[in-house]
Amino acid sequence: MPTVFITGANRGIGLEFVRQYGTDGWTVIATCRNPIAPGQLATIPGDIQVHGLDVNIHEQVDRLGQDLDDTAIDVLINNAGIFGPRGMSAENMDYIKWEQVLRTNTLSPLKVATTFAKNLAAGQQKKLVTISSMMGSITQGNRGSDYIYRSSKAAVNMVMRNFSADALGQNLIVANFHPGWVQTDMGGLGAAITPTESVIGLRKCIAGLTKEDTGKYFNYDGNPIAW
Ligand SMILES: NC(=O)c1ccc[n+]([C@@H]2O[C@H](COP(=O)([O-])OP(=O)(O)OC[C@H]3O[C@@H](n4cnc5c(N)ncnc54)[C@H](OP(=O)(O)O)[C@@H]3O)[C@@H](O)[C@H]2O)c1
Repeated sequence: MPTVFITGANRGIGLEFVRQYGTDGWTVIATCRNPIAPGQLATIPGDIQVHGLDVNIHEQVDRLGQDLDDTAIDVLINNAGIFGPRGMSAENMDYIKWEQVLRTNTLSPLKVATTFAKNLAAGQQKKLVTISSMMGSITQGNRGSDYIYRSSKAAVNMVMRNFSADALGQNLIVANFHPGWVQTDMGGLGAAITPTESVIGLRKCIAGLTKEDTGKYFNYDGNPIAW
């Protein structure tokens, strides 16, 4: 069976990816910041391998890269993310927190991608997926507010589009997705869809990705999103 690698796998959308791929018999490399107390992640049946990984600590990324040196990965999902402080106006901006969000949502996905690109190249499917957000669409970003999160996701869209060109030599398929507005700690209870619905859609899209899709940005229902 194929192997999927997921960051931020202990709750929310990441945890649901683990559930669904695990149920389908995939080998799941589920990474989270606190592998000693992974919560619900520890209860999911299947071939689930839990590893500690704070994506912002690049020494940890390098170490896991060495530990998994011989492991082929079919699908890597850059899922870990933070929203950062809400309700910040342009005039009252927390620039330190902004840097932390950029590190998590923009810089670390590239660090994870480059570290495990050789594992993906050794896999059958060679798919690198980043969970971005519709809020990163510059076309749709004319509503004001949420500078921090929006800029971090717009930037990761550019980072991964750029990386898709560099990764052509390794035949990687690189795609970014909006998961919908999802009922998680980040999305809130009033969000439009459940993690189950989101991940069913995302997995269908991921399964259907072809070389023609590399460098593209999709909604969880498969529709393309304007950058
Ligand atoms: N929910 C939505 O409506 C929505 C909409 C658009 C996009 N997204 C994106 O979807 C992804 C998943 O979001 P979610 O809704 O599932 O959020 P969530 O419920 O808040 O979960 C976020 C996950 O990311 C992990 N994480 C945060 N910082 C990390 C770090 N430095 N290293 C490793 N893991 C880290 C968290 O781990 P800890 O438990 O250790 O904090 C947690 O597992 C994010 O990229 C988010 O931006 C979500």
